[in-house]
Amino acid sequence: MKETHFTFHNNVTIPYIGFGTWQIPNDEAYPAVTMALKNGYTHIDTALAYRNEENVGKAIKDSGLPRESIFLTSKLPASIKGYDETINAFNESLANLGMDYLDLYLIHAPWPWDEIGKECTKENIESWKAMEKLYHDGKIRAIGVSNFSIKDIQALIDTCDVVPMANQIPFYIGRDQKDLVDFCKKNRILVEAYSPLATGDILINPEIIAMAKKYDVTTAQLSIRYCIEKDTLPLPKSTHESRIIENSQLDFSISPEDIKTLDAIKDVRKND
Ligand code: A2P
Repeated sequence: MKETHFTFHNNVTIPYIGFGTWQIPNDEAYPAVTMALKNGYTHIDTALAYRNEENVGKAIKDSGLPRESIFLTSKLPASIKGYDETINAFNESLANLGMDYLDLYLIHAPWPWDEIGKECTKENIESWKAMEKLYHDGKIRAIGVSNFSIKDIQALIDTCDVVPMANQIPFYIGRDQKDLVDFCKKNRILVEAYSPLATGDILINPEIIAMAKKYDVTTAQLSIRYCIEKDTLPLPKSTHESRIIENSQLDFSISPEDIKTLDAIKDVRKND
């Protein structure tokens, strides 16, 4: 595998693939993260809102792997904004995880999930200032955002000291968010791709299935590899060991021609 990691603009490195834990309940998170670590993943992504931090942290500890060999991300809940609120939520995540620092901490969304689109720029700036303080204090090695638009990110760049190191967004074949990804690249913000399989919908797309056959890989592997070819960091998730292994075996390249074909595929989501 030619890739091993991406590098943030502050020179901190992050393994090129992460194990996502969204929608993995706390009781399933322990075996899932244990399997991921056993099979070579060194990058785990969680969030306070996932309610599985406790078992994610326990699985990391019980793995016996040195803390510094693991890259661990958590997130400030979308509904919690403000300076003190951010510090408190961060400390809650640290306590849940049983850790004394995080590798990456993200604002989970620019607005609460039950008020999508609400104007929260002022509140996000307050949260960002708290994250900058935690970053400068050495409590977090890199800070970023998630589900942020160009406008949301620009507001932080215009008013704050630290440009976000990452923006974690839904990204998969058929949803490449080109303008946002180009904006992030221009500002040296790493795009992390969550739901690289469109939460499973991608796996039944006939065009993607056919192309995967051509490369002698699975549809999941082709879809995850597509994220890397687009310079985004995929965060696949599964609770099955065989799939956890499969999703990290990405030692092939997709030709520029085939990338173009994949780029032309419209949104694969069943519900769209
Ligand atoms: P499961 O946990 O039962 O393996 P996404 O990462 O886009 O959100 O997709 C996650 C969904 O895709 C989960 O339902 C997961 O189910 C399923 N999944 C993950 N990896 C694979 C794979 N290699 N093959 C088939 N389904 C997969």
